[in-house]
Amino acid sequence: MKCRAGIGAAMAAACALAAPALAADGDAARGKRLAYTCMGCHGIEHYKNAYPKYSVPKLGGQSAAYLEAALASYQAGARWHPTMKGLASTLSAQDRADLAAWFAGFRVTPEAKGPVGTAPEAAAACSACHGVDGAGTLPENPTIAGQHADYLAQALDDYRLGRRQNPVMGGFAAALTRDEIAALAAYFSRQRGLVTPAFD
Ligand code: HEC
Ligand code: HEC
Repeated sequence: MKCRAGIGAAMAAACALAAPALAADGDAARGKRLAYTCMGCHGIEHYKNAYPKYSVPKLGGQSAAYLEAALASYQAGARWHPTMKGLASTLSAQDRADLAAWFAGFRVTPEAKGPVGTAPEAAAACSACHGVDGAGTLPENPTIAGQHADYLAQALDDYRLGRRQNPVMGGFAAALTRDEIAALAAYFSRQRGLVTPAFD
């Protein structure tokens, strides 16, 4: 339900009842202003993290629920990246929701649908949550379609080695070989999905 300015009286009453849920709603316009700090890294195509060297992840079109959860897990220390931990620790729950709303608003509307190329065998274990084409089957499951291959490989390695903590992905990543990680990262990065966000 959209609860914004200019809504009718009946809708306003319904929105008043739904007030607790509304607090978690992201304000994309405010998120855009907050995102100025982020775009020096996330807004530059192919920008690389220095040590270890891998691409800064694409956030454009990512699921809002996942973006919020990701920022909260940096804050909670479940992910190792020092800069992201530092930045996330300054954000309130409302900031996270607003930023997530703005980044999630980037949509690619591909003309063609369906997976690009043939999925590697190991992808069978991923499709229930991420979809055959990596688009994600539920809001809490991130879109991995179109993400940079070297970031996907880094993330899977981090789960495997326990540097990134998540009970679900820890188990799946631990079962993968290096070759499977490389094949999965290459396949999902080729799918239509995430984009690098840009200010209009
Ligand atoms: C100095 C560069 C830099 C800045 C500035 C920066 N980020 Fe990041 N961000 C990164 C890198 C590198 C990663 C990948 C870290 C990792 O491997 O965990 C990342 C990861 C993330 C992720 C996780 C993505 C995923 O797919 O799980 C989110 C969400 C995120 N950043 C949001 C933000 C927001 C919001 C801001 C601004 C408040 C911001 N970042 C500012 C470099 C940066
Ligand atoms: C049961 C559901 C489920 C299955 C099956 C699953 N994932 Fe995930 N995946 C998740 C969730 C939930 C997250 C977010 C975890 C977090 O917050 O770190 C995630 C995160 C990821 C990420 C990090 C994305 C990012 O933006 O940082 C990658 C890469 C990934 N999964 C790849 C895979 C691959 C490859 C497989 C198959 C081998 C797989 N997943 C199987 C649910 C699943």
